Amino acid sequence: MADAAFPLERTAILTGAASERGIGRATADLLASLGWAVAILDLDAAACAEAAAEIARRHGVPTLGVGVDVTDQAAVDRAVAKVEAELPAVVALVNLAGISSPTDFMEETVAGWERVFKVNVTGAFIVCQRVLAGMVERRLGRVVCLSSISAQRGGGTYSKSAYSSSKAALIGMVRSIARELGQYGITANCVAPGAVDTDIMGGTLDDERKAQMAQGILVGRIGDRDEVAALIAFLVGDKAGYVTAATYDINGGLQIS
Ligand SMILES: NC(=O)c1ccc[n+]([C@@H]2O[C@H](COP(=O)([O-])OP(=O)(O)OC[C@H]3O[C@@H](n4cnc5c(N)ncnc54)[C@H](O)[C@@H]3O)[C@@H](O)[C@H]2O)c1
Repeated sequence: MADAAFPLERTAILTGAASERGIGRATADLLASLGWAVAILDLDAAACAEAAAEIARRHGVPTLGVGVDVTDQAAVDRAVAKVEAELPAVVALVNLAGISSPTDFMEETVAGWERVFKVNVTGAFIVCQRVLAGMVERRLGRVVCLSSISAQRGGGTYSKSAYSSSKAALIGMVRSIARELGQYGITANCVAPGAVDTDIMGGTLDDERKAQMAQGILVGRIGDRDEVAALIAFLVGDKAGYVTAATYDINGGLQIS
């Protein structure tokens, strides 16, 4: 069965897309350039509004920025309801909201572990469940969650065990969404980047750190946020209806080095 027709006017919700140097911001910008209406959900309401306004100015599409903590189920419900009321049908959800944790396994605490899981896993669960309700009704949806090469390699870039484990958990969640909701024209996939220079890496990467990280990367450099955005844009696009339950590596070949 083919997907329901991809509507000309459609919305992508992106969580964690307000940060100026982030992968989410680059993805929101690219999707808007492709004609998507864009909703940005992130912690800081002013930053969300600013990002939404800037993208609308640049691409002339409807946008909305809503301040929300993805771990707050009632707030997520209100935020998604606002998007559903003000923007075209939500066809895509990209879960980028996440936090890092460079703590060694033997130093990790239950509180630290739970802090990371709460945002990276429970937050993604809350947002997915809320947004998927409408996608099921409309018989069309594209979900992408940001996993990480850290899930496969047990760290090795910046973050360590709590983060790696949380990003591995997302692969299981995405596959269960793909399995249970594929019958409604919904696809769900993970994108697993290697190192990209964003705020989540504990501050801007200087040239020395970039060069250090590039060792072992087959193409000899760390990744660019626009490269990750391009992959996400494909996965939420109208041509990707037969791609589901997959995890896309985008790491310059680091996964085999
Ligand atoms: N940068 C990398 O090297 C890299 C590699 C692999 C995976 N990722 C993943 O990509 C995603 C985007 O990260 P990024 O690199 O653009 O970093 P980023 O720090 O720019 O983006 C993360 C965003 O999540 C938001 N956020 C954090 N907690 C939140 C909460 N409780 N509710 C709502 N929003 C919240 C932050 O405000 C921020 O805007 C993350 O899930 C990250 O784990 C990044």
